[in-house]
Amino acid sequence: MFIAHTIEALRAHLSAYQHPAFVPTMGNLHAGHLGLVRQAKPLGDVTVASIFVNRLQFLPHEDFDSYPRTWDNDCAQLRAAGCDVLFAPNEKELYPEEQTYKIQPPAALADLLEGEFRPGFFVGVGTVVMKMFACVFSEAKGRRTALFGQKDYQQLMVIRRMVQQFALPIDVVGGVTERAPDGLALSSRNGYLSPQERAEAVHLSKTLQAMATALRAGATDIAALEAQAMDSLRQRGWAPDYMVTRRRSDLLTPEAGNTTPLVVLGAAKLGTTRLIDNLEV
Ligand code: PAF
Repeated sequence: MFIAHTIEALRAHLSAYQHPAFVPTMGNLHAGHLGLVRQAKPLGDVTVASIFVNRLQFLPHEDFDSYPRTWDNDCAQLRAAGCDVLFAPNEKELYPEEQTYKIQPPAALADLLEGEFRPGFFVGVGTVVMKMFACVFSEAKGRRTALFGQKDYQQLMVIRRMVQQFALPIDVVGGVTERAPDGLALSSRNGYLSPQERAEAVHLSKTLQAMATALRAGATDIAALEAQAMDSLRQRGWAPDYMVTRRRSDLLTPEAGNTTPLVVLGAAKLGTTRLIDNLEV
């Protein structure tokens, strides 16, 4: 696996290829990331991953400093998954000066759910993803592919729309959410959980499943369903930010009687760890 710490070295190396398939990450890799790398392999002639903990997408009180950095393990896992190139710039390389040009995703999509509880998050994500695309795809010709996990459902939508609106010649592909045997969605932040919290953590996906089951069975009072989900998590000691049913097309609340495809999404804190998950209904 070729490791590039600079944009120049990355571009020089990728100039020998035409169709990169790219998996951006913040490191601390788990089976979800490695699944994306494996999914990427047949989609291009070179598989590229990045590791960059992007300060721009963290609020001042969030876990930027403590975000797990597990370089040796990440490299070993990427090699084993067949990754060809790892782009791992430091902050000075990616942001040599203050990044004053930024991607501002539309409020209608980016100011709700994650954007409501993490203001500015999608500005940071959009900006770094756009910049990563400029680094990874500049030498490409023809097909370019970027892969993102569906666990970050809203992030995937924000990036798809960004690519569409800026007419970037990139196929955005979503990867299924990998889960632990008990159903907990894999996340780098699961590592923050104490053993007791880890045992409890599965109740986020269980509560979403209960919402999805009720909807499939014909439940129509969405507000009541959401309130019940919030209450049941609170009773178990969680601090939920949202447990909602939304239209897959735009993440807005479905109107009564609407038969549009739905997704249930949740975000909640267990102790100091904030987890998110979703299920398409
Ligand atoms: O999902 C993530 O890990 C990050 O938001 C991403 C897409 C790598 C941008 O920093």
